[in-house]
Amino acid sequence: MSIYKKILVTGGAGFIGSNFIHLALKSLPNTHIVNLDKLTYAGNLRNLEAIKKNYTFVKGDILDSSLVQNLIPQCDTVVHFAAESHVDRSILDAVSFIETNVKGTLVLLEAIKKINPQCRFVHVSTDEVYGSLSEQDAAFTEQTNLAPNSPYSASKAGSDLLVRSYVHTHQLDAITTRCSNNYGPYQFPEKLIPLMITNALENKPLPVYGEGKNIRDWIYVTDHCEGLLLALEKGKSGEVYNFGGDIQKNNIDVVKNILKILNKPESLIRFVEDRKGHDWRYDMNNSKAKTQLGWAPSHTFETGLEKTVAWYCKNETWWKEIKTGEYRDFYKKYYGGIG
Ligand code: NAD
Ligand code: DAU
Repeated sequence: MSIYKKILVTGGAGFIGSNFIHLALKSLPNTHIVNLDKLTYAGNLRNLEAIKKNYTFVKGDILDSSLVQNLIPQCDTVVHFAAESHVDRSILDAVSFIETNVKGTLVLLEAIKKINPQCRFVHVSTDEVYGSLSEQDAAFTEQTNLAPNSPYSASKAGSDLLVRSYVHTHQLDAITTRCSNNYGPYQFPEKLIPLMITNALENKPLPVYGEGKNIRDWIYVTDHCEGLLLALEKGKSGEVYNFGGDIQKNNIDVVKNILKILNKPESLIRFVEDRKGHDWRYDMNNSKAKTQLGWAPSHTFETGLEKTVAWYCKNETWWKEIKTGEYRDFYKKYYGGIG
């Protein structure tokens, strides 16, 4: 039985947030989850359609301080996923990244400080705040200096520093987690793995940036979510915990693996212009989470990728609705529009 009775999840209609809600409701049966989500282009209520109990959805913006101040007293934990999350979009226009990721986090921290200072805050952050590694560099630890390179990672680093300051100055009970690249069900098909799977299924070209040699550490999404549950339960206030899948892959190998599973030709691959300021390599040292939280990822890249490809094959309607924009009609019908 969990000691946490009411969790406010922000951004729970997105990729990781919706996986977290499914897992948390299964693992913590005495818990009620309130999901506060603005339903930007990345939020999709289809991800949560199967949930029937112990769950409330609130459509709203984390920047809306009066709404947040109404929700905060009703919960004992906040797990904060809401963010603008796509690096390429932040390169095109950074404004919403600063608004949601920095100011939105501040609104949540302020509401907790004012109204419910006992509330535990789990801030879901990213390895990208540490910057980029060369091939020879050791993996990022929690002590690695912050050196964000994209407007996205700069906004996440800003939010991490705000969390740190509210623990130090206002004694809030807050934990920051930093995770590497997630993949799995419900990931919006703008990110590498779902974009490549869905394009391949449609026999469309697969755009690989530069030479496809950049390296990422890949983690299956439920492994990350299990880490978050452990951080929520056992994490020490003020601490940072790294999560990573212990899997290093360059992008072109990931893409070729997907094509192999789908039995599609490599001739679909197109090398395209590189991302501006493209980080070369991420690698996470996750030994602190292993020793202090008793966490470990349970998926190999092979098992995780097989499951992911199978999910996208089985859930064609889910991603086709997104790619054609039809999922927006669903929101119009039920929530009077998105954004
Ligand atoms: P996502 O883009 O799939 O989902 C983001 C969700 O937040 C959406 O449902 C969106 O509607 C909601 N949202 C955005 N702005 C909001 C606002 N102002 N108010 C309320 N809701 C808002 O993102 P994701 O990939 O699930 O990432 C979730 C979190 O995890 C983010 O904070 C991200 O930085 C972090 N993270 C992601 C990864 C990854 O690989 N995807 C890795 C490490 C950390
Ligand atoms: O590392 C954690 C981060 O992982 C999260 O904080 C971010 O929210 C999440 O979006 C992700 O960022 P990346 O930029 O690493 O993920 P993305 O899927 O966009 O790209 C992965 C790699 O693939 C990267 O090197 C760029 C490359 N790429 C991406 C796309 C979308 C391509 O080559 N072609 C593409 O079309």
